[in-house]
Amino acid sequence: MDQGSIAAVLGKMDFEVFVLTAADGDRRNGQIVCWVVPATLVPQAPRLVVGVGKMTDTREVVEASRKFALNMLAEDQWPWVPHFGFRSGRDVDKFAMVPFERGMTGSPLLPGIAGYLECHVRLVLDAGPCRFYLADGMDGKLVSDRDPLRFHQLFEMLPPQHIETMTRRREQDIARDLSLL
Ligand SMILES: Cc1cc2nc3c(=O)[nH]c(=O)nc-3n(C[C@H](O)[C@H](O)[C@H](O)COP(=O)(O)O)c2cc1C
Repeated sequence: MDQGSIAAVLGKMDFEVFVLTAADGDRRNGQIVCWVVPATLVPQAPRLVVGVGKMTDTREVVEASRKFALNMLAEDQWPWVPHFGFRSGRDVDKFAMVPFERGMTGSPLLPGIAGYLECHVRLVLDAGPCRFYLADGMDGKLVSDRDPLRFHQLFEMLPPQHIETMTRRREQDIARDLSLL
């Protein structure tokens, strides 16, 4: 197996950047996710697959409520990436200073986003270091006509110290996930 050539093909793929939020009673949290894929052609029964790391705090809230929202970030909303993606709700309340509304699933919806999807978990696939949720789309709206933020744009938009942090965290996550495979 040539891992380098596989990585080269995967590196051509790009992904929208979302803040996945969830709430269960008084508990709420949100994290950045990019592993979001539509999973049906049928508009009457919208479905998607979302991959969430087993170690995240948000995953516990999703599994307690079986519901979540995907906040599709707009192009200029890169500052939410360090806010929701570089630290854990176990250490800090990420919503303490963030204004938000609650959607029909009770999950936080952020201001200024490109759009959102609200979802119910239908099936959970345990894939070792992460879980994949097959989820039904219950509600969704394009909130603005701004383009969504995409993963590859982060490398042009984030200040250098944030790129360094993102790269370091990614290397740590790879080492941890390898041990869980
Ligand atoms: C650009 C970017 C993309 C990410 N994509 C995912 C993803 O698809 N799934 C996932 O579980 N974590 C992803 N993460 C990592 C989580 O957002 C991160 O571990 C977060 O701190 C978890 O927070 P929590 O413990 O409060 O839930 C991503 C992080 C960044 C910066």
